[in-house]
Amino acid sequence: MEDLILFLGHFHVLALHLPIGILAFVAIAELYFGFKPNAERPALVNTIWLLGAVSAVIAAGLGYLLSLSGGYNEDTLELHLIWGLITSATALIGWVAFGIKGRRGKGWAITIGGIQLVALFTAGHLGGNLTHGPEYLFEHAPNPIRSLAGFEPKSAPRTPVSDLAQADVFLDVVQPLLELRCVTCHNPSKIKGGLLLDTYANIMLGGDSGAAVTPGNLSASELSVRINHDPAHDDYMPSGGKTPFTAAQTQVMDWWILAVAPESGTLSDLGVDTDTLDLIAAAIEVEVTVSHLDELGLPIVTAASRDVIMKLESLGFDATPVSEKSGYLDIDFYRIGQESISDEHIAALLQARDHIAWLNLGNSGLQDHQIETIAQLSNLLKLDLSKNPVTDTGIIPLRSLPNLQTLNLHATKITDDALPTLDKLPNLEQAFLWSTAVTTEASTTRPYARIETGFIVVPAEDDESNE
Ligand code: HEC
Repeated sequence: MEDLILFLGHFHVLALHLPIGILAFVAIAELYFGFKPNAERPALVNTIWLLGAVSAVIAAGLGYLLSLSGGYNEDTLELHLIWGLITSATALIGWVAFGIKGRRGKGWAITIGGIQLVALFTAGHLGGNLTHGPEYLFEHAPNPIRSLAGFEPKSAPRTPVSDLAQADVFLDVVQPLLELRCVTCHNPSKIKGGLLLDTYANIMLGGDSGAAVTPGNLSASELSVRINHDPAHDDYMPSGGKTPFTAAQTQVMDWWILAVAPESGTLSDLGVDTDTLDLIAAAIEVEVTVSHLDELGLPIVTAASRDVIMKLESLGFDATPVSEKSGYLDIDFYRIGQESISDEHIAALLQARDHIAWLNLGNSGLQDHQIETIAQLSNLLKLDLSKNPVTDTGIIPLRSLPNLQTLNLHATKITDDALPTLDKLPNLEQAFLWSTAVTTEASTTRPYARIETGFIVVPAEDDESNE
């Protein structure tokens, strides 16, 4: 029965075009004959009134059946219903008055013809709002015209994502997915299940059965439950056989909910890992060179916590971000008087283990055994150990630093025997070795070796390690 009602109801959208055309035509004709009493009025007009009235009543009846399916904006629906009834009633009155009783003259023409036109226009406009949303007409209008019509000016469309790291988690990832597959049925003019999926705030409001999204909890998030059902399941979303999410899109929605549903923030700020970035790239179908890497060429990290930075600073380290965009730290140690850097200092660096990209411990009184700890800072790109009494054996643990590019060992106690250790550093670009016992002969075969200050060409941005 329910199906039958809906089946018929859907014909409303088709049937309503008839009365609109017929009644608009006949109302204008009646106005014309009202103002031109001498013009000959064809008898056919009477039949057209009858057709208009019958088709209006049928369209209204079908419209009522359609309204039973629910999910429309209640206020607009009620107004549309009232104006639909006024249209039908006026059509009947028009048929009786003009067609049967043969009323003529300006008074009748203006009253019935005029009301008919106004009712048709109003009912039609409200109906359009119901199906397409009130913004439909002005959706693509220029902003000045939108404001005249009482709509918010449109915000500039988001530029397509080209660097995923800079994509906004909601505006560039979650929202486009919902717009693609869900918002057609979950928007202000068609609120299926009492749920709006058009804005962050509305998603969080949930629907008839409660929370659509419970941050961090998939099974308590109706949205996740629905999109993860078997497509044949009654509750599967999107319903009605509409194109569903791809596997990657479903996983991204789940990832977002598990990541406690952030409202904003770039993927880089959120410290999204590379696998997830790949998944997101597949879900929103961006063909980009996905930058998994920070501008330093290291994996993207979130900024180090304030607590860790405070702790380092309280010990006499100077900790600053490598750049505005990077989560990595540049750390310098300033020795007070003759006191050497302590084991406690070195151990504290481990709290920022993943964040330290540049480390300057030059002239800090560093000892061989402390290098073992430093060798655990696996994201080190630049390390300055100059002017410390470190030796060939002391620097051996540095072999485990996969990213190290620049190493300053000048004025240390190393000799040619340190070079086999440096050879093992896969990314070493330059090692500063002057004022050490390293010989020119041993170093000529090593492209990274810089043994005379005179050879140094200081790269523009690379100012710290070369001093
Ligand atoms: C063709 C229309 C249509 C589309 C498209 C659609 N939905 Fe729905 N949705 C419905 C209807 C109708 C209901 C109410 C009946 C029900 O609960 O199954 C509903 C209900 C829901 C509910 C439950 C609301 C509540 O609180 O009861 C959720 C969650 C939901 N949809 C999510 C989605 C998501 C996510 C998408 C996009 C993947 C989507 N829907 C796409 C029609 C649609």
